[in-house]
Amino acid sequence: MINVDDYEKAARERLDPGPYAYYAGGSGDEQTLRANVEAFARWELRPRVLVDVGEVTTRTEVLGTEVSSPVLVAPTAFQRLADPEGELATARAAAAAGTIMCLSTVASFSPAEVAAAVSGAPLWFQLYWSRDRGFTKELLAAVTEAGFRALVLTVDFPVAGNRERDAREDFTLPDDLPQPNLPVALARKDVHAAIGQIVDSRLTWKDLEWLRSACELPLLLKGVLTAEDAVLAAEHGASGIVVSNHGGRQLDGVPAALDVLPEVVEAVGERVEVLMDGGIRRGTDVLKALALGARAVLSGRPILWGLAVDGEDGVARVLELLRVEIENGLKLLGCTRPDEVTRTHVRRAGPSV
Ligand SMILES: Cc1cc2nc3c(=O)[nH]c(=O)nc-3n(C[C@H](O)[C@H](O)[C@H](O)COP(=O)(O)O)c2cc1C
Repeated sequence: MINVDDYEKAARERLDPGPYAYYAGGSGDEQTLRANVEAFARWELRPRVLVDVGEVTTRTEVLGTEVSSPVLVAPTAFQRLADPEGELATARAAAAAGTIMCLSTVASFSPAEVAAAVSGAPLWFQLYWSRDRGFTKELLAAVTEAGFRALVLTVDFPVAGNRERDAREDFTLPDDLPQPNLPVALARKDVHAAIGQIVDSRLTWKDLEWLRSACELPLLLKGVLTAEDAVLAAEHGASGIVVSNHGGRQLDGVPAALDVLPEVVEAVGERVEVLMDGGIRRGTDVLKALALGARAVLSGRPILWGLAVDGEDGVARVLELLRVEIENGLKLLGCTRPDEVTRTHVRRAGPSV
């Protein structure tokens, strides 16, 4: 297996149809799911030649943490469906690769358990903010106590998107899957909707004040898709934004994350760090995101395919093959490090005028 697509094919063979549908699927007609991947082909790279690329590094910094490559691990739920070690295996692979793992609220391990598995490695925590504020407060305290370095609030999930693939495949959670970071156990069927029932759908920008008093970690908002909301995020003290449509799993019909990136970057400038996720399958996709202003990207499904195929080793190999593709792409683009990739290294596909 030499690229992410190979891992997807192998994962599809290994996983039962229900979990595969849950991982692979999007919402509604899956327009946005497809758009995320297709968007990358509409941008082309503009390489510069005769640049000294004898020494190239993929290392960069995200919110003050040095990472080995601009690919972070996105928060994805129920990793134990792919491998018995689940989030622990992913965390170990991310730590060994030298990058940040973002742990989902819907994990089978607590923040303390994951932190103990990778002592000292950089971890972020993704929050689904439940209606039970007392529970949320305790969860945030546990996240801080465990040494996590940032809090990623998912803001595109006031309610679950419409997930028809799960229904068609009759996706059902195993009854022995621990959910230590949720205030109540999820229904085993229609799982995505069940998560939506736990999340507080009444949250507004004002509530961020409470969140910032309950947790002093740097805050990122994940799921921003407009310049307007990016500016509000900056005004409300966010340190980072993840431009994301939840991998095409929430509102179908929204644009590809890559296509929204330029307007968000233009709106916030240097005020907050802008990350993106959705549809990244190649190192050259990462380069295009960097050129359009992302500091780094997050990878969701590719990590799950690696986990399903070969546990911790599979995740490690997916991260490494993306890193190698980025390194090769940097050299061919005429850049020696990720932050040398600029807007001039990319253009809209189509004939020159
Ligand atoms: C199976 C699956 C579960 C996910 N669970 C979560 C989650 O618990 N919290 C969250 O914020 N995003 C979740 N996401 C969205 C990812 O964090 C990320 O935005 C998306 O997967 C990026 O697109 P990609 O899969 O094309 O890389 C999930 C995505 C998938 C595919």
